[in-house]
Amino acid sequence: MTETTVDPMAAAKAAIADKNWTEARRLLAPLVAENPRGAAAVLLARSELELGRPEVAAPLVAAFKAWRPRHVGARVLGARIHLASGSFDEAESEARAALELEPDHPAVPRLLERIAAGRAAAESERLVRLVDAQHVRARREGPTRELLAAARTLQRMRPGPDWTRDRLQATIAYFHHASDLRAALRNYDPHLIDISTRFDYIAWPRRIQQYVRGRSVLDVGCGFGGYGMGFLIAGTKSYTGLDPAMELDSSRAKNKRVRKWEDMGVTPRQIAEALPAIRLLQSSSEDTTFEETFDTIALHNVTEHLMSLDEVLRGLTRLCRRDSVVVFHHHNYYCWNGHHLAPNQPAQLDESDPRHQQVYDWRHIDLVPDLPEDHYIRTNLNRVRLDELREVTERYYEIERWDEVPSSPETLERLTPQVLDRVRGTVPDITERELSVNAVLAVARPKR
Ligand SMILES: C[S@@+](CC[C@H](N)C(=O)[O-])C[C@H]1O[C@@H](n2cnc3c(N)ncnc32)[C@H](O)[C@@H]1O
Repeated sequence: MTETTVDPMAAAKAAIADKNWTEARRLLAPLVAENPRGAAAVLLARSELELGRPEVAAPLVAAFKAWRPRHVGARVLGARIHLASGSFDEAESEARAALELEPDHPAVPRLLERIAAGRAAAESERLVRLVDAQHVRARREGPTRELLAAARTLQRMRPGPDWTRDRLQATIAYFHHASDLRAALRNYDPHLIDISTRFDYIAWPRRIQQYVRGRSVLDVGCGFGGYGMGFLIAGTKSYTGLDPAMELDSSRAKNKRVRKWEDMGVTPRQIAEALPAIRLLQSSSEDTTFEETFDTIALHNVTEHLMSLDEVLRGLTRLCRRDSVVVFHHHNYYCWNGHHLAPNQPAQLDESDPRHQQVYDWRHIDLVPDLPEDHYIRTNLNRVRLDELREVTERYYEIERWDEVPSSPETLERLTPQVLDRVRGTVPDITERELSVNAVLAVARPKR
């Protein structure tokens, strides 16, 4: 019988190639105990780093480096370990030492970028902690120099691409987009910034940022009153939300990310009382008695609900100056999910559910003649056609932008010739375009 001896170093390297860090550690630990300055120490340090223990990895690599200071791999690993520990200066000095030893090292430039990003993130976290700790007192007593300096530094930072969902990035965006730093501090509210990211209230203001940043905004049909901070994060100077259905003393709010009603922990009345840049009014646009005008009037998924669309659009011209802009996002009734009921997407379709059976695959359009007068579709959706909407808009406004947003590919796949024929039985002149467009993003200016 021949006995095969397994080389533990070779086995450890194989485990590392498989990213089996625990196994690598098991194999390497005895080798390092025997010789702390050998190559096994570097491999063990790497494994410990991958296992999330940079503090264990650091002395291992240091012992090896003391013996072989010109080992580039050990320097790069040292830089990664320091980066993971948040020691950015040490990480940078190790990375630069590696570059001196090997100027074309392929991994070091990226590592230096990660170190710079880590340093900036740590600095912004520190500044945000400072602003969080001082902002309430600053409302009463005015900002300290330290607070103003922190806000100014945050203003100079650029938010990362995730500022609609990441709380830190959203806070940087809040200051970065602000035109008046003292006003930004006065209206700062970390809880609302957090809610805005978690409940998905920043995506819409971000999408129309060019029309809301640095401007006064009237949000017609603003819903339950939680969207103001989302607009402030995008740089809106002042926000007025208007909705007849807003309950000023209820903290119930729609979490758009999960499409569920949740508690936002604060009521519209409390928000408006605390933040001078946010005003919330329980009123319909027809009933308002504003004397003022707004730079921008926004309507998000409201135009499809207006039973007096013409009257509302005409009335809004009263609140515009010549250079004001009206921006609306219209959810098209004639698309797959234009009924606003379940299912919202084909993936949610349950053909055995009688409620789904009524409306799915454009059946909601055929259904209308048989519906009772008080059905949601009759009382809450005006069923305006796209060209009609454009025509009504053009009565009072010059259209500057009219983007027809297609429905998802999954819904478009379901638009078969049979479906088209069936729907034409109810609306003979309906076009494929009308059935496919999910939404319209329109930007319009009042006619002179
Ligand atoms: C689908 S919700 C949209 C809410 C919010 N904009 C959003 O995107 O989540 C439509 C809102 O329009 C409001 N609304 C309907 N008619 C209105 C009117 N004449 N003036 C102001 N708001 C109105 C409703 O009360 C409702 O809250």
